[in-house]
Amino acid sequence: DGLCDNAKVASLEGFRERKSEQDIMTTNQGIKVVDDDNSEKAGERGPTLMEDFIFREKMTHFDHERIPERVVHARGSAAHGYFQVYKSLANITKANLFQDPTKKTPVFVRFSTAQGFRGSADTVRDVRGFAVKLYTDEGVFDIVGNNMPVFFIQDSHKFPDIVHALKPEPHNEIPQASSAHDTFWDFVTQQTETQHMVIWLMSDRALPRAYANMEGFGVHTFRLVDAKGISRFVKFHWKPVLGVHSLVWDEVQKIAGKHPDFNRQQLYDDIENGKYPEWELGLQVVEEADEHKFDFDLLDSTKLIPEELVPVQRVGKLVLNRNPDSYFAEVEQVAFHSANIVPGIDFTNDPLLQGRLFSYLDTQLSRLGGPNFHEIPINQPTCPFRKNNQRDGFHRQTINVGRTSYSVNGINNNLPQPAARNRGFVSIQERVDGHKIRKRSPSFADHFSQATLFWKSMSTPEQDHIVQAYSFELSKVGHVFIRQRLVDQLQNVDATLALRVATNLGLKLSDKADNGFPKTDVKPSPALSQAYTAK
Ligand code: HEM
Repeated sequence: DGLCDNAKVASLEGFRERKSEQDIMTTNQGIKVVDDDNSEKAGERGPTLMEDFIFREKMTHFDHERIPERVVHARGSAAHGYFQVYKSLANITKANLFQDPTKKTPVFVRFSTAQGFRGSADTVRDVRGFAVKLYTDEGVFDIVGNNMPVFFIQDSHKFPDIVHALKPEPHNEIPQASSAHDTFWDFVTQQTETQHMVIWLMSDRALPRAYANMEGFGVHTFRLVDAKGISRFVKFHWKPVLGVHSLVWDEVQKIAGKHPDFNRQQLYDDIENGKYPEWELGLQVVEEADEHKFDFDLLDSTKLIPEELVPVQRVGKLVLNRNPDSYFAEVEQVAFHSANIVPGIDFTNDPLLQGRLFSYLDTQLSRLGGPNFHEIPINQPTCPFRKNNQRDGFHRQTINVGRTSYSVNGINNNLPQPAARNRGFVSIQERVDGHKIRKRSPSFADHFSQATLFWKSMSTPEQDHIVQAYSFELSKVGHVFIRQRLVDQLQNVDATLALRVATNLGLKLSDKADNGFPKTDVKPSPALSQAYTAK
């Protein structure tokens, strides 16, 4: 409408602390403060006076400075930047941010570890969050991803369990930032769908050298929708321009002691020094007609689509070029949500994604103090401005003008009005039919083939690192039966891997190992492979 400048709004310019001419200190009520060192007392050596509103205000505010940290991904670092598409993707999506190669869409990206507390060390063995907020002309689009392409579990119903198993143990809050403990391994050796992600976690991918050396993945299969309403499946990838590099275990441990802010510092310094980290957006696009042609289920988040089968098309660039001004206001208060999508993008029925669509907004209601956290500057959409009939609630800042906050209303001509169908968000018309049922789809049954594929794709030093990681982690597990169960599970991944870890742990390969899990030959059918690689 000509009134809203997307980049300007995303710069948060209007929200920064205003400078007065002399920068004189005041209370929150604007009263000038004369002495900021001493409380007001009854006599030089007397008690502090109750009426000292200057002291009370300062102390009260300090007492309430903290908000709850995130239940997962509490430790994070973030930066501003932009995304730009190389050429129009109108043939596969109508999403506005993918149409015009001259348009720069403002972004805010937060990297994180998943397990540790807000003050834990950067260089630990963990999955890293890679959450991207795109302030598009059609609203906020979040790709809330990780630096590994698969996830531990297939159904979100298990998320509280995996997190309770992974987090420090509840009786003594040990370990602070590590998966090397009994409850984690007890869980993952029984919930065998975790084994693919677990081998990624034992690999060098869990020890990134820098955020700028990490890949990012949307993990779930999403949909792209074009202007005709035709939908295709898509996996989102972020490919670091500097390439993927990891630390080795010995470095990780020393750095965690000597410089716990290692990754955070580098991100900050690189941006301050003009060495802007960059990633290319990659897409793996699959036609709807091919949904059932894979030997795994596209709705199963413990599976990736091998790049040899469906190549990653690089379609645009993400550049991070500005550090936040306030860690709290921006990095701590930012609220990502996988349900934040824009027209041209849609969900699938992945049961892990479906649960996330509920969880993020729900947790942010308590983390960020009520239903108005979308008004916090970092979370506000840019253009168009927000407008609806929602009102009031804790911390409401918008001063809505006018008499009506309902529709249909005859007093204000029904303003605001719903958009025309082709300008707003409309879900794809997917037919959904079935009995209510609480059951895992049989198409999710193969828990090991892709773990084997991953192991076989590793070079010799990388395999050595994986063996060392399993051996170290399990050496921290007190219950020997859990160690044995892991070795049993590894027999389903690879016999040599299992033997090497068993030997390091002083265990034997067990003939009780359950090798009855369904496994598929993960080689793609030649015809399908050819169809996608030729594109
Ligand atoms: C953060 C839930 C799976 C990536 C969070 C938070 C919750 C949550 C409650 C804290 C959010 C906040 O306080 O603002 C879940 C649930 C999942 C799930 C219920 C599965 C059922 C995943 C998966 C990924 C992921 C599969 C990656 C693809 C992240 C990231 C953050 C996060 C990157 C940090 C966002 C930030 O930087 O603020 N998740 N999560 N999560 N989650 Fe998940």
